[in-house]
Amino acid sequence: MANRVSITLLVSLFVSSLLAASAGNFYRDVDITWGDGRGKILRRGNTLSLSLDKTSGSGFQSKRAYLFGRFDVQMKLVPGNSAGTVTTFYLTSQGNKHDEIDFEFLGNQSGNPYTLHTNVYTQGQGNREQEFRLWFDPTLKFHTYSILWNPQRIIILVDNIPIRVFSNLESIGVPYPKNQAMKIQASLWDAEDWATQGGKVKTDWSMAPFTAYYRNFSALTTDSSGFKGWLTQDLDVHGRKLLRWVQKYYMLYNYCADRRRRFSHRECTRSRFL
Ligand SMILES: *[C@@H]1O[C@H](CO)[C@@H](O)[C@H](O)[C@H]1NC(C)=O
Ligand SMILES: *[C@@H]1O[C@H](CO)[C@@H](O)[C@H](O)[C@H]1NC(C)=O
Repeated sequence: MANRVSITLLVSLFVSSLLAASAGNFYRDVDITWGDGRGKILRRGNTLSLSLDKTSGSGFQSKRAYLFGRFDVQMKLVPGNSAGTVTTFYLTSQGNKHDEIDFEFLGNQSGNPYTLHTNVYTQGQGNREQEFRLWFDPTLKFHTYSILWNPQRIIILVDNIPIRVFSNLESIGVPYPKNQAMKIQASLWDAEDWATQGGKVKTDWSMAPFTAYYRNFSALTTDSSGFKGWLTQDLDVHGRKLLRWVQKYYMLYNYCADRRRRFSHRECTRSRFL
């Protein structure tokens, strides 16, 4: 009897330490970098809240920089009238030739949908915006937002559904992020001059403070133990089907399809899945 209890105990200790190795903890993994107390780590490091009022927003960044990885976080966005607010989760390196992979959620008036804005910068060059509607209300529950970044491609996912792929096309002269390590950054800030309906709808400060929640941060990196499948991950048939579904019904804007903008992006001629 005593034996069985201790074996069960050992097994459960082993399982929970495996989970601990992949699950992040905000105390261990990030620093709140600005906002003078408006960013808070809660629930023993599982949850982090950012808030915004008329004086300031707030933000955090990962302690370490990563070269490739799969980064997942669950977020619950500012509910109600979130016009003018922007909530972000992104990877970025430093300097004027920096690389960057962005999630930015643009708030809206009550009852109107958020816009998910994404961008990819390589060696300081961005202008690769794609915008989406979500197929759910991101303020009601937590949903999972992920960036997978390996040497061949970047895949941006929402609840594990791929919404965007940026492939390594160095062979046709498109720079690809692969030499500069990036840190996770996240913020809640005010951009009422452009964020909502092109800047027409301003922030209603009587609703402040605005609060967004992040939880269950996880980073799979080249040095984490366990699952390494992300390092070579590509879309399979099912993934391509989902990506087409998102692009067909939920994509609002695609830089590759914007003829009014003069810059030419070579990657746009290569593939429908960008
Ligand atoms: C806000 O709602 C309006 C009306 O539905 C929509 O046109 C707009 O794209 C939404 N998002 C933003 C960020 O303005
Ligand atoms: C995320 O966090 C919540 C609340 O702390 C927890 O119940 C849940 O099991 C965690 N993991 C996932 C994968 O949702």
